[in-house]
Amino acid sequence: MEPRLQLRVQRYGWDKAAGYYEHSWERQLAEAQRRLLDAAGPQPGERVLELACGTGLVTFPLAERIGPEGALAATDISEKMVAAAGRKARQIGCANVVFQRMGAEELAFEDGRFDLALCSLGLMYVPDPGQALREMHRVLRPGGRAVALVWGKRSNCGWADIFPIVDARVKSEVCPLFFQLGGLGALDTRMAEAGFTALQAERFSSTLSYGSGEEACLAAFRGGPVALAYDRFDGRTREAVHAEYLDSISAYQNGSGYEVPGEFVICSGVKSD
Ligand SMILES: C[S@@+](CC[C@H](N)C(=O)[O-])C[C@H]1O[C@@H](n2cnc3c(N)ncnc32)[C@H](O)[C@@H]1O
Repeated sequence: MEPRLQLRVQRYGWDKAAGYYEHSWERQLAEAQRRLLDAAGPQPGERVLELACGTGLVTFPLAERIGPEGALAATDISEKMVAAAGRKARQIGCANVVFQRMGAEELAFEDGRFDLALCSLGLMYVPDPGQALREMHRVLRPGGRAVALVWGKRSNCGWADIFPIVDARVKSEVCPLFFQLGGLGALDTRMAEAGFTALQAERFSSTLSYGSGEEACLAAFRGGPVALAYDRFDGRTREAVHAEYLDSISAYQNGSGYEVPGEFVICSGVKSD
């Protein structure tokens, strides 16, 4: 897919997903995001950059860890995601975060500004993840750390058929390179190419639990990266994709719900002095 088109699909797709994302994914992603935060080790008073912050599932715990002396710039390509996160910040009185709409490949920050840069489940959507990693490297001070969380291998993510099911009904693939960073050594290699050293990677599995087929479909179609395509489907097409998706995860049915396996990779690195 042409990079500019991919950016538009992501930007407006996540605008559509913004109202469904947190409710659908908060519980499912909690363990992976906690591990990401532990790997990042944010310290009180640090200056932190977050890319692809979404509704702030990682942002708010991160803001708490760096405390009132710390400063967090949280960015995302979707206006509606940034707006939702900003509303929540005001509601809970979180004063050490500034939210900005910004693409990950072109960060509007000066060199060396941050102690820590982190991205939770965002790099898979960026047309050129290497460029986003180079930007993270650029805006870190020498000795600064970068940490990223991505989905793992396609074969270890039980929900992965969502993409071919939707792609069969649209002109171009929705997320053509989604699993490219999840293969063995893929994210580490990209981080090394961007200039990071002292790389550390961990791969782990987690279960996505849905109480019903309806819940599983809501998360997959409304709350995720295919939301723009789904929004344009008519009623019959929606019924058909629901049925195909539930069939694709039927091996994971547990009573009236589903326990779908997912795999994640976290990789961290340091910008050398
Ligand atoms: C799965 S959500 C992750 C949100 C949050 N980081 C979390 O872990 O819950 C993916 C986010 O990536 C953002 N995104 C997609 N492409 C992007 C890009 N090129 N630059 C910045 N953000 C992007 C989307 O708008 C969306 O909010």
